[in-house]
Amino acid sequence: MTHAKGFASRAIHHAYDPLDHEGALTPPLHLTSTFAFETAEAGGEMFAGERQGHIYSRISNPTLDLLEQRIATLEGAEAGLALSSGMGAITAVLWTLLSPGDEVIVDKTLYGCTFSYMRHGLAKWGVTITHVDLTDPENLKTAISDKTRVVYFETPANPNMRLVDIAAVSEIAHGASASVVVDNTYATPYLTRPIEMGADIVLHSATKYLGGHGDVVAGLVVGGAEQISEIRLYGMKDMTGAVMAPFNAMLILRGLKTLALRMDRHCASAQVVAEWLAAHPAVGEVHFPGLTSFSQHALANQQMAQPGAMIAFELKGGMDAGRAMMNRLNMIARAVSLGDAETLIQHPASMTHSTYTPEERAEHGISDGLVRLSVGLEEVEDILADLAQSLDAPQVQAAA
Ligand SMILES: Cc1ncc(COP(=O)(O)O)c(C=O)c1O
Repeated sequence: MTHAKGFASRAIHHAYDPLDHEGALTPPLHLTSTFAFETAEAGGEMFAGERQGHIYSRISNPTLDLLEQRIATLEGAEAGLALSSGMGAITAVLWTLLSPGDEVIVDKTLYGCTFSYMRHGLAKWGVTITHVDLTDPENLKTAISDKTRVVYFETPANPNMRLVDIAAVSEIAHGASASVVVDNTYATPYLTRPIEMGADIVLHSATKYLGGHGDVVAGLVVGGAEQISEIRLYGMKDMTGAVMAPFNAMLILRGLKTLALRMDRHCASAQVVAEWLAAHPAVGEVHFPGLTSFSQHALANQQMAQPGAMIAFELKGGMDAGRAMMNRLNMIARAVSLGDAETLIQHPASMTHSTYTPEERAEHGISDGLVRLSVGLEEVEDILADLAQSLDAPQVQAAA
């Protein structure tokens, strides 16, 4: 019996043998837009889908092909697809699955650009977007109808860390013949594999943990071979053209090699930071799946191998405290994005959501004191030291 390789080994070796490539340990980078056909007949057969091979890099490319096979094995899926960004992945998937008159049910909390795409993109083409609180799967039972084609959610969700029970929601969705699409960006396949729990399609902003070094914007999708082929030929090739550049595929392949190692360190440090924040007098609630005080701690234990490394916490001093804390940080970078080696922090009320009215922020579950932290790979003592001195800001202390 052949030995089945573990996660980290597959992230490094899957689908590549150096001896097939003149011994090159690192896979070659295929910087080519197009591919030469052996004969006119061979080209014709490829276009007709009767012969395997590459035609043009907006459809497929050997470097992307390797990355697609790697993410598919790590997620436990039949096939994968590489796209230019997380938003490219989301739009290519949903343009493919949905038609005018269909309904998509989404959780109440969504990454901002996904929310905008649905509200301003999909809705314009006659797709109904229904927000349902999916933290209780019973709500889906009530809301789902024969018009529902897709149930879409993030778990944990950006930015407030809500979890959704993937197995329970998938069972209800499948009962109504709807497809389940999960944005697995926060958890990565190292912590959660939604396909194994019943989801149909999983997608990523590979810009985050999968790349891991903050040097590339990229997206990935996995699912059944037939569905992925449809998304490739319709959503990616024709509807969005959101193909990944081969060089970016090489950066994500490199990032995947250390994913397991990085996630272990990210998660261990985040647990320490979350517990430290929860004990700080200037800090109110800390939203982190690894804390026993987290309202969905049991679900986190059930469907996440580790709690992840994203933390959302509330400053008791609200807007002024948030702004003051941000401006005193030395090492931690004030930046959006997440999953990088660098610890990143953002205060939605004064930064990403500053154009919202306080009422609009409240409606999206974003309090004036909410801070989002992506715990990086520095020594955890240095992360804590920077947080401690920034929480000493007079405006933060005054409110505590
Ligand atoms: C959860 C989540 N999904 C999707 C995206 C979009 O990904 P990208 O920025 O790679 O287009 C992001 C970006 O922040 C995100 O946080």
